Amino acid sequence: MDRAIEVPKSLENEIRSIAAHTLRPVAPSDEAREALQKRIKTLLIEQDAVLVVHYYVDELLQILADETGGYVGDSLGMAYFGRDHRAQTLLVVGVRFMGETAKILNPEKRVIMPDLDATCSLDLSCPVDEFSAYCDEHPDRLVVVYANTSAAVKARADWMVTSTNAVDIMKYLKAEGRKVIFASDKHLGRYVQQQSGIDMLCWQGFCVVHDEFKTVELQRMMQLYPDADVLVHPESPEGVIALADVVGSTSQLLRAARESAAKQLIVATDYGLFHKMHQAAPGKELIVAPTGGEGATCISCAHCPWMAMNGLENLCQVLETGINQIHVPEEIRIKALVPIERMLKFSR
Ligand code: 13P
Ligand code: SF4
Repeated sequence: MDRAIEVPKSLENEIRSIAAHTLRPVAPSDEAREALQKRIKTLLIEQDAVLVVHYYVDELLQILADETGGYVGDSLGMAYFGRDHRAQTLLVVGVRFMGETAKILNPEKRVIMPDLDATCSLDLSCPVDEFSAYCDEHPDRLVVVYANTSAAVKARADWMVTSTNAVDIMKYLKAEGRKVIFASDKHLGRYVQQQSGIDMLCWQGFCVVHDEFKTVELQRMMQLYPDADVLVHPESPEGVIALADVVGSTSQLLRAARESAAKQLIVATDYGLFHKMHQAAPGKELIVAPTGGEGATCISCAHCPWMAMNGLENLCQVLETGINQIHVPEEIRIKALVPIERMLKFSR
């Protein structure tokens, strides 16, 4: 990596504090759960709505999406699905940037989310004014941003990437002779820089979940399970990535789980993905990579505190009331559409 742009310690502390104080829905009783599931199914039909769900949310929500013709997948797949589906309402169940991306791509559709406070530490790590000023200082560089950023940050960018296509897009830009600024994940930035060899200035944002996976403890765990394959999301620290058999986005890790010959898999990502991994690789033992140990500060070990804000009750409530609509100002939407569409075209 050529140079890095640090996130101030005060902002990092503020983000950790927000993550520590998220409100998780209380699990409903069996009876209440069945009633909610039934009511949501009726409302989805009545309101011409479809569920667009990320792998990290509660498995009950993933099951509901599967049962109702919705989608469960990674952030890239969610963007394609929302854009291509004919429903007039997209009920995006994940975190805020996913709802914003859906709205940017589908201004004519209603986009609603169970809780608009469900954000992402990578989004919070990259305030638009500071980021934009930094970009202004480097007019010779293309601005490439991760999907996990605000609509306003995307509006300042030339390209958007997700963890599924970041390496391919950087290799392409490197071949074009371009230099880049990348925001906002420090570990993903370093990983794609190493894979592509591109000249990069990297914003040092962090994911409160993946940043907590621990290298030494993972080595110890690998000694306990010597035949296990290690699957790692690239938002994890460098030492953890170095121990991986497979590094990839959620959908790439899911494929790796299916294709791996190992009977045990140590997985360094949010354990919400285990629902689909169990389906894809029945009979394999899934083990959460360690987040405890020396230097541990994790607030919500291996499970995103903001993804966890989505539940059956608030999902039903937004359908009943129509609250929690995503709005993106038109001048921002038009600009943010450019890097998103560039990426979607590249990835298809
Ligand atoms: P994916 O793009 O792999 O779904 O990752 C999104 C995310 O938030 C990972 O923490
Ligand atoms: Fe953001 Fe990390 Fe949560 Fe993904 S897991 S949404 S990167 S905080």
